[in-house]
Amino acid sequence: MTTQLLSTSKPDLEHAAAIIRAGGLVGIPTETVYGLGANGLDPVAVRHIFEAKGRPQDNPLILHVSEAAELNRYCHDIPESAWILAQKFWPGPLTMVLPVRQDVVPAQTVAGHDTVAMRCPKTAATRELIRLSGVPIAAPSANLSGKPSTTTAQHVIHDLGGKIEAVIDGGPCQVGVESTIIDLTVTPPRLLRPGGVTLEELRGILGEVDVDPAVVAPVAPGMKPKAPGMKYKHYAPAAEVLIVNGSTEAAARYVRERFQPGDAVLCFAEELECFAGLNPTAYGWESDPASLSAGLFDALRSLDEGKVKRIFARCPTGGGINVATRNRLRKSAGFHIVNAETSDD
Ligand code: TXA
Ligand code: MG
Repeated sequence: MTTQLLSTSKPDLEHAAAIIRAGGLVGIPTETVYGLGANGLDPVAVRHIFEAKGRPQDNPLILHVSEAAELNRYCHDIPESAWILAQKFWPGPLTMVLPVRQDVVPAQTVAGHDTVAMRCPKTAATRELIRLSGVPIAAPSANLSGKPSTTTAQHVIHDLGGKIEAVIDGGPCQVGVESTIIDLTVTPPRLLRPGGVTLEELRGILGEVDVDPAVVAPVAPGMKPKAPGMKYKHYAPAAEVLIVNGSTEAAARYVRERFQPGDAVLCFAEELECFAGLNPTAYGWESDPASLSAGLFDALRSLDEGKVKRIFARCPTGGGINVATRNRLRKSAGFHIVNAETSDD
């Protein structure tokens, strides 16, 4: 199969909608990352998503809708808080877990769960595609399972070219890390994955919000996290990633003492000079957290293209979107973290 590269023009969106209706797979742009979309009500189309990605069957998909009113079609017992969050953050990078209408949404889409993750993406072309398709679009991130997510149409072609009917090129994703997931079926609501809508913003509206342990620490073998996707190795480039915390100077000293051919440094643009000679790549500015989330996956992917063996990575501290960037970077490192100021190994 040759994967067609489509634009966001009306005729191209109509063509993509016809592919979705016929049970095909389309790479879709969103403000977070690219999605691998199919008709979320068609169990066979959904099975093809799992096959194309190599995704474990027990990992449920997010169902994308074009507006909040559609929640009533796919969910039941929707709490008032869901409507308030939708009003405030949709369209946008927030996914809400709600009780699923099992007579409408196939078990394949939700991997047998009695809940469904619902999202309304900000990218206008993708909401238009959902409207034109006439069905909700189930879409995981459009990467091979375990690899860093895709933030350009070219990344999608790299991972899935030849396996899917089409990709809509909507340009690079603005947020760059996946949506925030909040489980509204438990009290208090629980953050399952940090993203573009921050914990501070959620607490501002919901009051108390728990944070799932899988957000900050590795999932112990045999443990069952609420978002099944959190238990797999994730966002990992082929290279080994080691996070080096501490001041720029201490980190540069730490890396310089251990640097070998095939190694690289992934750092903040402000630090490039300090890491000179250590094959440094900047993924954004420390002073501009949005640039870090937007640039992380592209940088990890380009280091893989360069056949790097080991990446010493610098990780942002603090709240806001940095929580999401830190979560993805820690997972890509398999939680392999050193403190350059105290480490003497
Ligand atoms: O930004 C995003 O959310 C992107 C774009 C394409 O919308 N999608 C995305 O999908 O990141 P995916 O499949 O890569 O990640 C979805 C996560 C997985 O960790 C999955 O386990 C969790 O959401 N999830 C899905 N349905 C769930 C449910 N009913 N309950 C709990 N977790 C769920
Ligand atoms: Mg994913």
